[in-house]
Amino acid sequence: MSELVTLTIDNREVKAAPGTSVLRAALDNGIYVPHLCDHKDLTSVGVCRVCLVEIEGRRPTVSCMTPVEEGMVVHTASEDLDKTRKINLELLVLNHDYDCQNCAQNSKCQLQDLTRYIGIDEERINAMRDPDLSWDLDQSNPYYLRDMNRCVRCGICVRTCEEVQGDECIDFAFRGIETTISVLGDKEILDSTCTTCGECVVRCPVGALVPRNAIEPTYEVETVCPFCGCGCGILVGARGDKIVSSRGIPDYPSSGGSLCVKGRYGLGFVNSPERLTTPLIRKDGELVEASWEEALSLVAEKLGQYKGDQFATIASAKCTVEDNYVIQKFTRAVMGTNNIDHCARL
Ligand code: FES
Repeated sequence: MSELVTLTIDNREVKAAPGTSVLRAALDNGIYVPHLCDHKDLTSVGVCRVCLVEIEGRRPTVSCMTPVEEGMVVHTASEDLDKTRKINLELLVLNHDYDCQNCAQNSKCQLQDLTRYIGIDEERINAMRDPDLSWDLDQSNPYYLRDMNRCVRCGICVRTCEEVQGDECIDFAFRGIETTISVLGDKEILDSTCTTCGECVVRCPVGALVPRNAIEPTYEVETVCPFCGCGCGILVGARGDKIVSSRGIPDYPSSGGSLCVKGRYGLGFVNSPERLTTPLIRKDGELVEASWEEALSLVAEKLGQYKGDQFATIASAKCTVEDNYVIQKFTRAVMGTNNIDHCARL
């Protein structure tokens, strides 16, 4: 492992791996530097310009794009920095929908945090605002909403789609003040190649991408997604005995915190009133409720009517490894056949 770099940030000596940005070195050492477009999972692009710092011997520098250097001396606060950050923040806020009360991201919004930390001049913003500039709310996706009126063009969703999901279904479109995030042909998101993994939704720092009908859980339980054999780690959120949310466990060994549409949005079946909770047996062409004892006796009786290659088993990735082991053992040792298959994605 290469030697750590030693630098000074706000009169504190800190160490960081070579290649670490000044922003990350500061944040990792508990020194706050305002930032918006930078995300620890993604490539830095330096577009919001609020993470400016002063580095001795240089002009004010965008800290997310500047790698640490041995002996560097960094200052994260000064009057000049405050002034420049304020102007840069005002440009981001300029055409942002101000109706925070009715935003699903209210109180969790990074733009609100920055506005509190840096401050803005509302009179100046109102003078520059274009009152006619607005975008239609994209409600096409059944699981999340896209509101470009709340977007700050940080590009986190674009980079997430490309770098985390490898999908590239969204990108910057149009020019100047009309720049927006769009899909090919400027259609609705449902008409794109979006797989609704929701990775962009969880990383959006403002209210531009928000889950539909989000309910905050009162507690979360760590478990493994039940949908397929990938074994992604999930935190299932609940209120009482009802599941209301699901999110990836950060840095989980098999999934690294990512989820697909099923693990993130597909847990409604658990509390669905349509879910079968009792075995059903077909009698005179009708499915009727039965006890477990009755159902299992019938299955055992029917299994006795087949042997060898007359029999086949389809196992499921929704079962545990142990369940699947028992299923194959039963098929081979009890039923006497190797006719067993497995659907890895269901
Ligand atoms: Fe550095 Fe946006 S966080 S430019």
